[in-house]
Amino acid sequence: MPTLLHLDSSADLVSSRSRRLSQAVVDAWLNADPSGVVVRRDLHRTPVPHLADSSLHWAPADRVPGSNPPAAAEALQRALLDELLAADIVVIGAPLYNFSIPSSLKAWIDHIHVPGVTSADTGALAGRPVVITTSRGIAYDIGSPTEGWDHEVPALRTLFGSALGMDVHVITTSLTLAAQDPSLSSQIGRSEQELDEALTLATETGMRLALATA
Ligand SMILES: Cc1cc2nc3c(=O)[nH]c(=O)nc-3n(C[C@H](O)[C@H](O)[C@H](O)COP(=O)(O)O)c2cc1C
Repeated sequence: MPTLLHLDSSADLVSSRSRRLSQAVVDAWLNADPSGVVVRRDLHRTPVPHLADSSLHWAPADRVPGSNPPAAAEALQRALLDELLAADIVVIGAPLYNFSIPSSLKAWIDHIHVPGVTSADTGALAGRPVVITTSRGIAYDIGSPTEGWDHEVPALRTLFGSALGMDVHVITTSLTLAAQDPSLSSQIGRSEQELDEALTLATETGMRLALATA
């Protein structure tokens, strides 16, 4: 039975677009392969704490002699690693917060990127698909003053693709604040169009990856 790990990190439990998109990926994946199992972890509702001790960044054999991370923190990290390593595909809702990764998602990442355990050289996660659905309040168009201000997607590509060796798929929707922020009201049409296109891509991606994970 293929397993999908579904993470969300938006602090919006009412109208989140990253949650809507991640759910669309999951629904399409499950629809294409009803034998699949979905493991849910909502990093906003049930936050993972900050990494308790820097030694946890390393596998036990690689830790500085004398380091002694709290047993409970080590057990939590082991559970998060086992959950990730058991997943055939990972889907992550990741809104842009302060031009970066939401702290709830970052805390999870700090637990699961362990050189020698999940790093690309181990092959533990090699080629495994990870779908990131990201939503951004404004636009970051090439040639605009905010080009390059989104530091989340590049960091997540580096982390999951280069550092962990996974197969990264990014689905983006921008201008999500258009209906809320009067200065963006002229962009409402584009905001809705981007959401529609992202939902279509989310469904296509979920269906396509179901073939790979079946
Ligand atoms: C704490 C916080 C910080 C935010 N920072 C940014 C930002 O730096 N750039 C941006 O474009 N939008 C920013 N926004 C707007 C969100 O990216 C936007 O509302 C997005 O749709 C949130 O994702 P969600 O719809 O999945 O909740 C921020 C929102 C919050 C709550």
